Amino acid sequence: MHPLQCVLQVQRALRWGPLASVSWMLLRTCREHSSLPSTTCPSPERQEDGIQKDFSSRLATGPTFQHFLRSASAPQEKLFSPEVEDPPPYLTVDELLGRQRKVYFETYGCQMNVNDTEIAWSILQKSGYLRTSHLQEADVILLVTCSIREKAEQTIWNRLHQLKALKTRRPRSRMPLRIGILGCMAERLKEEILNREKMVDLLAGPDAYRDLPRLLAVAESGQQAANVLLSLDETYADVMPVQTSPSATSAFVSIMRGCDNMCSYCIVPFTRGRERSRPVASILEEVRKLSEQGLKEVTLLGQNVNSFRDNSEVQFNNTVSTNLSRGFTTNYKTKQGGLRFAHLLDQVSRVDPEMRIRFTSPHPKDFPDEVLQLIHERENICKQIHLPAQSGSSRVLEAMRRGYSREAYVELVHHIRASIPGVSLSSDFIAGFCGETEEDHLQTVSLLREVQYNMGFLFAYSMRQKTRAYHRLKDDVPEEVKLRRLEELITVFREEASKANKTSVGCTQLVLVEGLSKRSANDLCGRNDGNLKVIFPDAEMEDVTNPGLRVRAQPGDYVLVKITSASSQTLRGHVLCRTTLKDFSANC
Ligand code: 5AD
Ligand code: SF4
Repeated sequence: MHPLQCVLQVQRALRWGPLASVSWMLLRTCREHSSLPSTTCPSPERQEDGIQKDFSSRLATGPTFQHFLRSASAPQEKLFSPEVEDPPPYLTVDELLGRQRKVYFETYGCQMNVNDTEIAWSILQKSGYLRTSHLQEADVILLVTCSIREKAEQTIWNRLHQLKALKTRRPRSRMPLRIGILGCMAERLKEEILNREKMVDLLAGPDAYRDLPRLLAVAESGQQAANVLLSLDETYADVMPVQTSPSATSAFVSIMRGCDNMCSYCIVPFTRGRERSRPVASILEEVRKLSEQGLKEVTLLGQNVNSFRDNSEVQFNNTVSTNLSRGFTTNYKTKQGGLRFAHLLDQVSRVDPEMRIRFTSPHPKDFPDEVLQLIHERENICKQIHLPAQSGSSRVLEAMRRGYSREAYVELVHHIRASIPGVSLSSDFIAGFCGETEEDHLQTVSLLREVQYNMGFLFAYSMRQKTRAYHRLKDDVPEEVKLRRLEELITVFREEASKANKTSVGCTQLVLVEGLSKRSANDLCGRNDGNLKVIFPDAEMEDVTNPGLRVRAQPGDYVLVKITSASSQTLRGHVLCRTTLKDFSANC
């Protein structure tokens, strides 16, 4: 089949998602599902007070097909405000409120999930829920899940077994404990989770968090509830995430969601849907707020951050298109217009010159010169690029449908290094993809040696259902071979990263202080421009902006650290003075 045909098929599948999922959104009653254990049925007290009866009669006159279609494509401009929003016909306003119930979140997987947790929490907080960090106190437990590899899902299944025991042991005097699965696993497995783990009360896919108050209200009445609709435009632009740690120095700002790349091994396009970008104005508003709160670092977040394209206003479509990196192609039809990543990066970096800007995770295809130039010129944009290669073999890269060869990737690395002297590079690699031979593996080893990354994320291949590889290729590298190759990649990566990091010894680096080191109460920990951890003794020092003043570093301070030793993952040194990003840039 022509590659485009395959993409079209997937597009069609996603477009049909809402319709196909309508029945899925309908609520499942205990009576309809006699196999449901008593833990998911209303408690006797609740049946006595007529809540269940009342609910069932309202359900009979309940949601229409149109209702679900409407909620499936909530327009982006609509401000989220549960207080004023009409409840669905089968629920009262009161039932949509949290009424002080306590929610406990557990987050698994990537940074996107950390950000999703903050979005989900922001929505529930507005609905009157409280948050607890103690599992035992919780009335609702929500697991924000990851599906990228089998192991990630297995962790959740194991956790669900533990939570089942917690639910069963709960005294009858307390309100029943509700358990929800949010994110990629909810999206991937849908009904299978409810059938396999009967004590799960609700499922919400990555685009359904606005629906959480309704899903929880339904769950509260003893029904299982699910919304796994994928959206073409949901970016939660108007939902201000709640920062989990008030003392944090840095925050993540989601700028786009979804992925159109369809790499053949990856489940993400199926669990997080089509690529869509958040309007620039709402991103800038969030960054400004974070700067006012005193945060010193923002990481722009998305599955393909640098494929950013804000098409939210018609006039944006007249903008000149930017090119792909040389030698790179896409699996989808060329997109036109919109405000691109270079524009966003430029605007974001102007908000606060003392705020460091990072971004993750980019795709190597979208590094036009405008972006590289900006990273080079702008003092507060970190000279650090994540450049996921996945493999060093052109043959495997083709099977992965990455849209580039080893040669094009290496040429891009050289171009980036020439454009941004001193840039720090990191990458993702997969060991043991379908059909990977020993020779292919050695090509990956040689790429690791050639590029000498500062950081690396290495994984053994895990076949995922629905992906192109699952349908077309054979997972033919034995598990022990995958693990052996992974070990070899890790060893080589560490050797090379140590060499690369050792070049910093003797240099003075700007470090953003995060807090105490985990290993020793006498040491502080921070990050350098390349995002490497830097450890140094907590000592008094001069403050360059207040000559004569002796200070100790606090979280959120910029300090100069003279590097004295380096390993593959950490730098060590001693602190020289407290400074500012501007002062450092002016003097280096
Ligand atoms: N198996 C192993 N690793 C995977 N990744 C994505 N899908 C898989 C898979 N099926 C890795 C890629 C990606 C990172 C986020 O996870 O390296 O860049
Ligand atoms: Fe997955 Fe490829 Fe999209 Fe990354 S770019 S999320 S690896 S499909």
